[in-house]
Amino acid sequence: MTGIKQSKRITAGASALAVWLGAAAVSAPAGAQTTAGDAAAGELVFRQCAACHTVEPDRHRAGPSLYGVFGQQAGAVEGFRYSRAMREADVVWDEETLTAYLADPNGFLPGTSMRIALRNAEDAPDLIAYLRTLGAE
Ligand code: HEC
Repeated sequence: MTGIKQSKRITAGASALAVWLGAAAVSAPAGAQTTAGDAAAGELVFRQCAACHTVEPDRHRAGPSLYGVFGQQAGAVEGFRYSRAMREADVVWDEETLTAYLADPNGFLPGTSMRIALRNAEDAPDLIAYLRTLGAE
């Protein structure tokens, strides 16, 4: 499991993504049909985010509500005061952009006011699977 150990040490966005992809390729059983994560596990990972984000529409904390965030344009939630960087970002939140932003917010989007990264890059697939369920009913 050296890939997993390495990924805990590396926090820079691109390299964490590369290591994560490498670890996923190694640990996925042959013929596994999808790289999608486990939303139930992701809900637990979301505790890292809940101090600043709710999953209810229009309820903002230090960060905007993440209800419906997957597939949404960055910086588009009404009633939340984003950084200029986020307001002007030409980004749609999908697996790729969320993985990169969560690994290294300021590396992906210099000037963002989100100062905290996802602790372990290997949690990104589960967390994103959970984010996908928000507002998708
Ligand atoms: C310390 C507070 C804080 C924590 C913890 C935090 N965030 Fe954020 N987040 C913010 C702030 C503030 C913004 C707005 C950033 C900006 O305007 O540049 C933001 C923005 C975002 C956005 C963009 C939303 C949009 O409407 O475009 C996403 C996605 C996001 N955060 C996901 C997460 C996830 C997932 C976690 C947990 C791993 C997390 N955040 C943890 C404060 C936080």
